[in-house]
Amino acid sequence: MAKLSPSILTADFTNLGEMLQVLERHPASGWLHLDVMDGAFVPNISFGPPVIRSLAGKTKLRFDVHLMVEEPGRFMADYVTENTEYLVVHQEACLHLDRTLQLIQSLGVKCGVALNPATPLSALEYVLDKVDQVLVMGVNPGFGGQSFLPVALAKMKALSEWRQARGLDFKIATDGGVNAGNLQEIAAAGADIIVVGSAITNAEDPSAVLEQFGSILEGGA
Ligand code: DX5
Ligand code: ZN
Repeated sequence: MAKLSPSILTADFTNLGEMLQVLERHPASGWLHLDVMDGAFVPNISFGPPVIRSLAGKTKLRFDVHLMVEEPGRFMADYVTENTEYLVVHQEACLHLDRTLQLIQSLGVKCGVALNPATPLSALEYVLDKVDQVLVMGVNPGFGGQSFLPVALAKMKALSEWRQARGLDFKIATDGGVNAGNLQEIAAAGADIIVVGSAITNAEDPSAVLEQFGSILEGGA
């Protein structure tokens, strides 16, 4: 069954500790998705290693770090904490993607590659057997609260078939525009890890939304 990877990008940072407690209490949350933006690869700046390090050890959620930065190899080691499970780089940001994936693995964490909506799956053909996660963007990266682009559904279905045909076992993740109305369809398209930002963190009752998402994933309401 798919699990959620809640993103705190648009959360209220003055209440982050409280939000983490809400997120980790619910069994539908598998990871904490951390969106790093550098104002160059994407037109927005979020947070970086100091914030991520300050969260490490304070939650039992594993970190799923999404690097929306140019030349992600430069500061890679700074994102490795006791909580870090995945370091995910963008295919479009890596001139030497294979080398960057090797670097992540050499740091003792799992590696992922994200694809922008316009990037074809074929860009991953020669690294697919090396990745632990493929992140199919449901929006153009940079901001929370955007609408889901259905092209991500077709990509996840094709990726799922590709994974089966090649006997691989990487996780399929999607990020952006997920809400209660499209969650079921997204899970059915083959997502194992579903990143959700504003629908949870900006809800009046984040706990209730997690509950609702959890039951949708379990095939309930
Ligand atoms: C967008 C980020 C997302 C963002 C998703 O560039 O990578 O992780 O937080 O936010 P929502 O769920 O609001 O689209
Ligand atoms: Zn993200």
